[in-house]
Amino acid sequence: MARIGVLTSGGDSPGMNAAVRAIVRFGIDRGMEVYGISRGYEGLIDGEIEKMERRSVGDILQRGGTILKTARSKRFMTEEGQERAVRNLETFRIDALVVIGGNGSYAGALELSKRGVPVICLPGTIDNDLGYTDYTIGFDTAVNTVLDAITRIRDTSSAHERTTVIEVMGRHCGDIAIYSGLAGGAEYVLIPEVEPDLNDISLKILEGVNKGRLHSIIINAEGSMYPSDVLVENLSERTGREVKLVVLSYLQRGGSPTLQDRLLATECGAKAVELIDNGIYNKAIGTVGGEIMGFDLEEALKQENCFDRRLYDAIGVLSK
Ligand code: F6P
Repeated sequence: MARIGVLTSGGDSPGMNAAVRAIVRFGIDRGMEVYGISRGYEGLIDGEIEKMERRSVGDILQRGGTILKTARSKRFMTEEGQERAVRNLETFRIDALVVIGGNGSYAGALELSKRGVPVICLPGTIDNDLGYTDYTIGFDTAVNTVLDAITRIRDTSSAHERTTVIEVMGRHCGDIAIYSGLAGGAEYVLIPEVEPDLNDISLKILEGVNKGRLHSIIINAEGSMYPSDVLVENLSERTGREVKLVVLSYLQRGGSPTLQDRLLATECGAKAVELIDNGIYNKAIGTVGGEIMGFDLEEALKQENCFDRRLYDAIGVLSK
């Protein structure tokens, strides 16, 4: 009987629980034993490993966060940490490990695979910054949370005829900013991938005022060229108008996963079990054009994440 381990690692994302549930239940359905590892690679190093049953994952499908808990493990970046992790997997006789996380977690899984541990990775991050997959688990929920915030902020911004800068997550990737900016009707979106023109933004705000626009919404991805407080100060100086700042921060990471994230998580979990059952390892699971597929892990990690220029440009046209 195959024994598989599962852990969640890095920043949590809505849908991680749905993925764990799918792995446990599809795994048991195929006659496997499934072991949950707590606190990501930290728990793997410390041997925090427990057998899971179908009931262990009851009532979690709709919950954000991760019942397995998560961590960013510095110890796992060391030789000693990785050796201890491998030893624990051997002690628990785990045949394959499923890692749910973002690119840092994938890099960790790749190290384990080089030490002979069969691994499968699932894209669990709100950032949508893994180039090989169209979407990551948690992105859709996070963007919907941002959209809800934009709608609320727009009400009060209009009432006060203000400009509001809304900071969203995305250290290296502007997807949350682009998608929420487009769907939320933002006037301008600043992303790490494109150098913004502050003059342009100020002109847009002032032109809007002249045309009778009651508010301006500027979305700033946290990794853009301008820290949000600097941006706010700069825009208010250039326009001579009041500019407020809202930092959404961890609000974006919590909450019940949307339909899209639950489906993606469940399908990726099922695929992971299917691959392991067929003896196929060292794959990163993702979705391309709606199809759930397994990609070579090392190749998947190398794939550059390209932002969607078409969507980015559309924001400029729509907000003219
Ligand atoms: O999960 C990815 C992410 O949300 C980034 O966008 C953000 O910069 C980071 O996590 C912050 O995570 P933490 O403060 O928990 O390390």
